[in-house]
Amino acid sequence: MHGRPREGRGTMEIRVADVAGTCPGVERALRLVQKAAAEADGAPVWTLGPLIHNTRVVEELDAAGVRVAAEPEDATGATLVIRSHGVAPSVEERAREVADVIDATCPLVKRVHEAVRMFADQGRLVVIVGEKGHSEVEGARGYAPDALVVTTPEEVHEALADTIVESAGVVAQTTQTPKALWAVVAALHDHTRSVQVKNTICDATSKRQEAATRLAAEVDRMVVLGGRGSANTRRLAELCRASCPQTMHVESPDELDAAWFEGAEVVGVTAGASTPTAQIDELVASLTALLG
Ligand code: F3S
Repeated sequence: MHGRPREGRGTMEIRVADVAGTCPGVERALRLVQKAAAEADGAPVWTLGPLIHNTRVVEELDAAGVRVAAEPEDATGATLVIRSHGVAPSVEERAREVADVIDATCPLVKRVHEAVRMFADQGRLVVIVGEKGHSEVEGARGYAPDALVVTTPEEVHEALADTIVESAGVVAQTTQTPKALWAVVAALHDHTRSVQVKNTICDATSKRQEAATRLAAEVDRMVVLGGRGSANTRRLAELCRASCPQTMHVESPDELDAAWFEGAEVVGVTAGASTPTAQIDELVASLTALLG
């Protein structure tokens, strides 16, 4: 049996996926911001961009005095938190010039920055396997402005055409799949004499997907908690639906309807990577009250 049994009144049991909700990097960033807000004594604390793609969390932080800065200069004279995605060194420099900076960059994203810098210093063509325009990728690209950003082998062939590059260094955006990384590496072998790879993929996403898929196969109803705009939550719901057609994606416990659970003996719960543990606990409590 997978999943942690949480509650079981009558014949109904609620199981939460073994791994669910916010990843360690985002949890750490949240803790750092909450601590800064508590210590600020009413003074403003800013995050450079929304800390997390979760409207409820952003609202809660707003109530605690945390504001969202579009540019480092918005936080002039105040505390500014760099979120888990990290930023380019030029942005960090600007931030340190005007504000008191708390760096909440995930340590695994730092590994991407270090590898990009190392490959650039070695004179290699830096290749980042990731989505152009994504803030994590843009931050990493700041360490090697000439880096090639691609997600597919076709993009590699298109960008390098008939060129043969002496040496390349490859890193991946932390949320990429190993399949995408190695497909790009294989394509690079057609255009370079030497390819070095730093596998910087973080397994937080795949662990959540595997745990959700396992649990969905054993339950009668599956509830997936997370923002509707969150791509990873939608993907979780899709994966769960494949083995448990009775899967519901909700943003908050208010959306739960007792009638939908009728006849269910086991209900599974999972949550997207932008859903903090406190919200999962709240959902389980609501389910227990509703179905108990
Ligand atoms: Fe999260 Fe850090 Fe991985 S922010 S998804 S633990 S790279």
